Amino acid sequence: MWPLNCNWKIAMEANTEVYHVRSIHAQTVSPMLDDRRNVNTFYPNGHGRMVAPGRRNENGELVRQRPPEMAEIETVGEIGRTCTQSYGIFPNWVSPLSHVALPPLLFWPNGINKCFLETWTLAPDWGDGPKPDVWTVNDGESLSPVLIEDTEFGQWIQKSVESYGFRGVPLSYQEARIYHWNQHADRMIGIENIPEELRVAQVIGPEWVYPNDPRVALIAAG
Ligand SMILES: [Fe+2]
Repeated sequence: MWPLNCNWKIAMEANTEVYHVRSIHAQTVSPMLDDRRNVNTFYPNGHGRMVAPGRRNENGELVRQRPPEMAEIETVGEIGRTCTQSYGIFPNWVSPLSHVALPPLLFWPNGINKCFLETWTLAPDWGDGPKPDVWTVNDGESLSPVLIEDTEFGQWIQKSVESYGFRGVPLSYQEARIYHWNQHADRMIGIENIPEELRVAQVIGPEWVYPNDPRVALIAAG
């Protein structure tokens, strides 16, 4: 459990989009992940998924390889093996899934400008080998370099959000799962209960929510 000096939604939303990868993870994630080819899927009730293919070297091999010490989950299919996929489970669970682990990040409010980040790694039996841990260094000594990159700007974003100049955040396609989440949160609260200036316009209609997403029919048609 890691204390962060920002609102829980700032921390969670930073992990609910692939837009930040090039700038925040320039040396870590970006060389392994093709962020421009990401696909978002919106599920009912605010859940979402992002898939982005892994980068390949000149021989066509994936740059990112399975850590040799981690056991493989044999039944995971091609997407899980070749892409980064991240699932958002409404309201506070974000997790990549792969053929070696299911490592959830959980975001817990702890005041208007503080939260906790809870990290888990669920993995197959590791026997006598090192305990698999996707998110921390030396079994909880510190956050992993990638998670430090993901969380270190939270306190400064919090300051921006608190400033008089802050009017909102424009979101790109790569961040559309955040928008989907907020649309659903507004509907749960009851749109009429939210002051007009604080509402999220309901622009992602049910025709884009799985399985209505027109791409599903296109794929089925071959
Ligand atoms: Fe990140």
